Amino acid sequence: MVQYSNLRCEVKDSIGYIVIDREAQLNALNQATLDELQDVFMHFNADNLVRGIILTGAGQKAFIAGADIKEFTDLSVIQARSLSERGHILFSDLIQGAPKPVVAAINGYALGGGLELALACHIRIATESAKMGLPEVSLGLIPGYGGTQRLPALVGKGHAMQMILTGDMIDAQKAAAIGLVNEVVPQEQLMARAETILQKIFTRSRSAVTQAIDAINAAEDKTRKGNHVEMDAFGHLFGTADFKEGVAAFLEKRAPEFK
Ligand code: COA
Repeated sequence: MVQYSNLRCEVKDSIGYIVIDREAQLNALNQATLDELQDVFMHFNADNLVRGIILTGAGQKAFIAGADIKEFTDLSVIQARSLSERGHILFSDLIQGAPKPVVAAINGYALGGGLELALACHIRIATESAKMGLPEVSLGLIPGYGGTQRLPALVGKGHAMQMILTGDMIDAQKAAAIGLVNEVVPQEQLMARAETILQKIFTRSRSAVTQAIDAINAAEDKTRKGNHVEMDAFGHLFGTADFKEGVAAFLEKRAPEFK
């Protein structure tokens, strides 16, 4: 496993773990961390031994408290535009577009770019004390890593408008009520719950899981026709060994054994 300066990563029981490890800075996403995230997602996405990914932050205070504001001071208009574009490409292509499930284990503050990173993940689990928000307007900015696009898709336009325009944080219970996180658990159960969800997914057909992620993502992608992606994937899966095994197992009243 490659050693990173800002991440702790390992593979265990088919899960690729990524811990953003800048605890003293509340795991703020500086550009070096974005570089390393790009590298590890490319690595994990291509590694057949990794069947799912869990992303979390070091310590108990923060998942990620946003993009690193200390790096913002020297950026020109053009550099800021390319930083945003870079985040979009990383979050869309490598995280949301990962061919295996990615779970955000939100262990504290998930703010700004940190919440946007969680929004790009496929599933979000939060601790009871987690706080989430997009406070960019308080810096004279707007979200730049997809927040204006992904948040309304997840929680509806009204809640997204209120969160982005006020910049206020919401607690985990409210986040669950509006669909921003899937589940809220006590801090000590966070990783175990994320692992249990992934282990359940690992019992399913790997190719079906990959196609399902792609078809669900296609619904939000204006360059693709989601219905057609679903039809093509549905047809394609009929030709797979997993489909034959899944149906045979059902008819024989046994659990499937996917290869
Ligand atoms: N970028 C850079 N550094 C950050 C950061 C960020 N987004 N968020 C926190 N930090 C740093 C602080 O500057 C401080 O570093 P220092 O000790 O070198 O001064 C350290 O992390 C601890 O943060 P601090 O603000 O002292 O903790 P707190 O408990 O008082 O407050 C927050 C916690 C999350 C409420 C507060 O840090 C905050 O508002 N952060 C910025 C959130 C934000 O606007 N994110 C969107 C960015 S686009």
